[in-house]
Amino acid sequence: MAPRPLRLGVNIDHVATIRNARGGDHPDPVKAALMAASAGADGITAHLREDRRHIRDEDISALLAALTIPLNLEMAATQEMLHIAIRHKPHAACIVPEKREERTTEGGLDAAGQFDQLVPIVAALSDAGVRVSLFIEPDPVQIDAAIRLKAPVVEFHTGLYAHLDGTARSTELRRISDGAALAAKNGIEPHAGHGLTFDNVGPIAAIPQLAELNIGHFLIGEAIFCGLKDSISEMRRQMDLVR
Ligand code: PXP
Repeated sequence: MAPRPLRLGVNIDHVATIRNARGGDHPDPVKAALMAASAGADGITAHLREDRRHIRDEDISALLAALTIPLNLEMAATQEMLHIAIRHKPHAACIVPEKREERTTEGGLDAAGQFDQLVPIVAALSDAGVRVSLFIEPDPVQIDAAIRLKAPVVEFHTGLYAHLDGTARSTELRRISDGAALAAKNGIEPHAGHGLTFDNVGPIAAIPQLAELNIGHFLIGEAIFCGLKDSISEMRRQMDLVR
């Protein structure tokens, strides 16, 4: 199939991580989000974690007030986060698994195992006009659960792909590619993200069914060396090269 346009969602969580290290208001995640938009980001992603370790509640309001591109709110499947999402009505909400002690989102959501808990959350978000995404492993069992939950979007966790090399990486790439084909065949828009860098984004961006990549840590880290605009526009270029 002809590849569809591939959107870049820039995750600005780690701008807030740096801000919070000193407790003030610099660097401002909203300023970073606006700069990301002007550098070619199609959307902004922010994860409001239960412990508020980076993004805070007031960042979500400020982002929504300032942005003219869509906001994708990453959230745990809790009542607290559901109420926040329904109050703010971001363009999209990506439901992620969340463990207090983890450094970042480790592994995908067990949509099959937590099916009953997810039914009312997905339904309430959808009723509020929020586009629901489920951050899952590219596993047919999880994709089947997403279909049954009527989620319009799944985001495949690319963390394993990013950490493997050689044959193991190729095998994982195939799993993501097969997952994207299965999701698309069933009317679900597949996205991907986690651990993507200039070095590993190409084969993922080349998967024709993928509609969006969400990238954060590498882009913010690379901005230390080349600035945020160049970091994002180079990622955009690398993605476009293979589409
Ligand atoms: N997508 C989701 C659902 C995530 O939880 C994260 C990490 O916050 C990302 C994408 C971006 O991952 P990274 O920061 O490794 O690029």
